Amino acid sequence: MSVRDELQARARFEERYGVAVSPVASEVERRVIGGDWGANGYTTMAEADAFARGLGLSAADHLLDIGSGRGWPGLYLAVRTGCRVVVTDLPLEGLRVAADRAATEGLAGRAGMVVAAASGLPFRAGSFDVIVHTDVLC
Ligand SMILES: C[S@@+](CC[C@H](N)C(=O)[O-])C[C@H]1O[C@@H](n2cnc3c(N)ncnc32)[C@H](O)[C@@H]1O
Repeated sequence: MSVRDELQARARFEERYGVAVSPVASEVERRVIGGDWGANGYTTMAEADAFARGLGLSAADHLLDIGSGRGWPGLYLAVRTGCRVVVTDLPLEGLRVAADRAATEGLAGRAGMVVAAASGLPFRAGSFDVIVHTDVLC
């Protein structure tokens, strides 16, 4: 993805995440995906559970979620498995929502939010045990 593409993606998604999720949208998400994590894609809770099982995620792991939007599915996986998580995305707006949700879920100290492009992640090699990304290549 070029820098121009990243700038366009950031502009597009910051507008979307800048608008609060309506009760109707949350209900649609619950019915379609199975939860209300502010998902902005098609990955269901059953699929996120399958990630956790397939990856053997546990409280010992440090997870990186790239292009996490409002924190889906990284925050959910942290709640479900006890792992630590860093959720990243281009726009700040979604990560603000993610920070609020992390606090609500009692993830303080176990969840971090970082504005970053996938092409230039600001982490040392070996910082994470597991990496996920859902519906980012769109
Ligand atoms: C369809 S949304 C999916 C968000 C979330 N993973 C979900 O499933 O709800 C795609 C996300 O990828 C992010 N994204 C797109 N290109 C990216 C890039 N080059 N680096 C980091 N994030 C990117 C967008 O900002 C957006 O939040």
